[in-house]
Amino acid sequence: MSGRGRNRRGFLAAAGGVLGAAGLAPVLRAAEFKPEAPDWTKNLGPGVDAAPYGKPSPHEKHVIRRSVEWLTATPQSSVNFTPLHELDGIVTPNGLCFERHHAGVPDIPPAEHKLLVHGLVERPLKFSMAELRRFPPTSVFHFLECAANGGMEWRGAQLNGVQYTHGMLHCVQYTGVPLRLVLEAAGLKGQAKWLLLEGADAAAMTRSLPLAKALDDCLLAYSMNGERLRSEQGYPLRLVVPGWEGNIWVKWLRRIELGDQPWQTREETAKYTDLMPDGRARRFTWLQEVKSVITDPAPEARLAGKGFRCIKGLAWSGEGRIARVDVSRDGGRNWTTARLEPPVLPKCLTRFYLDWQWSGEEVLLQSRAIDEKGFVQPSPAVLQKTRGVNPIYHNNGIQTWAVNRDGTVENVRLG
Ligand code: MTE
Ligand code: CO
Repeated sequence: MSGRGRNRRGFLAAAGGVLGAAGLAPVLRAAEFKPEAPDWTKNLGPGVDAAPYGKPSPHEKHVIRRSVEWLTATPQSSVNFTPLHELDGIVTPNGLCFERHHAGVPDIPPAEHKLLVHGLVERPLKFSMAELRRFPPTSVFHFLECAANGGMEWRGAQLNGVQYTHGMLHCVQYTGVPLRLVLEAAGLKGQAKWLLLEGADAAAMTRSLPLAKALDDCLLAYSMNGERLRSEQGYPLRLVVPGWEGNIWVKWLRRIELGDQPWQTREETAKYTDLMPDGRARRFTWLQEVKSVITDPAPEARLAGKGFRCIKGLAWSGEGRIARVDVSRDGGRNWTTARLEPPVLPKCLTRFYLDWQWSGEEVLLQSRAIDEKGFVQPSPAVLQKTRGVNPIYHNNGIQTWAVNRDGTVENVRLG
């Protein structure tokens, strides 16, 4: 027998062992082997152009972005959340990407949108969308996480759902122009060290970005997952800042000014700074540090009964690739290394799995990610010890899901 054949039999035997004698589906008796002819097999369905732009199956109506009513005063300055427990793989469908905006979604005709590049440059330039699209494009997969993801959980368990605890997160393939090419076209002056980025929305949101990051891997994106950006994600142009907090990914981008120092805008002074126990605030904490969460089981994805369950989760790091994810079933005392599913890309969501037999006992499920630079996702206790209880932003603490004997799952905080 060839080596390959042996491996295959080995795999099948192992799979049988993991899944157990009960298996995953009922074993049929001979009398039940009848071919089925339900209505949808007997009748023709609608024709090809019934839906020229497709929608999800009508049976998937529950798979939606959701909001937390008490969180914000107006829907214009608000957020909704990605249903992470319903998604497979690493790509977020465009219609399910969480939205965060400070002053509503502008409706911008692409023919009227311009990007101004000025300040410390040799040649101030104003690009139309058509001109930007003439640059050689590039396509990259990256996660975007709001700095406030998990902000409600700093002081303890708050919201009973992975959609709410971790859903200010999405991951798509962006297509656009490397920001470096546009800056080179304008010609940088020697003193240029910082960029001001400004959005065209009613907030005219502004952030300062260090030049080194702009030249490294930032992208002026006009497409996501193969089609033009959705209005709520910044149509017709947004900045992609891989691995950095969502706030600096300015949407509806209309102006880039080059300067020799940061502008100290509202979004980097009054907001998006982290208040420390000594009363001082950390500023310019752009990086989204190593983090993970189990998306199934989760409060919205309970266990139906004892037996086999594949634990599924997501891990990500603004530093680069995910190196390893460990899963604990006893609240962090013992850890088992999970399986990472390719592709494992830098600054991108990574999918992990762990096969598991649940015997009906109470379990405290956790995941802990480690990135390629060796950073380890901390426990909430360690985070609180160093940063206190005041920061809203940059909560990358380990999440605990308590599995009860009846199979329900709850958000809990240990110790
Ligand atoms: N850009 C502009 N112009 N206006 C905004 O309100 N919100 C920021 C950022 N870019 C915002 C913006 C914040 S706080 C986040 S987390 C991300 O956009 C959210 O991106 P998304 O709506 O595509 O999820
Ligand atoms: Co944000």
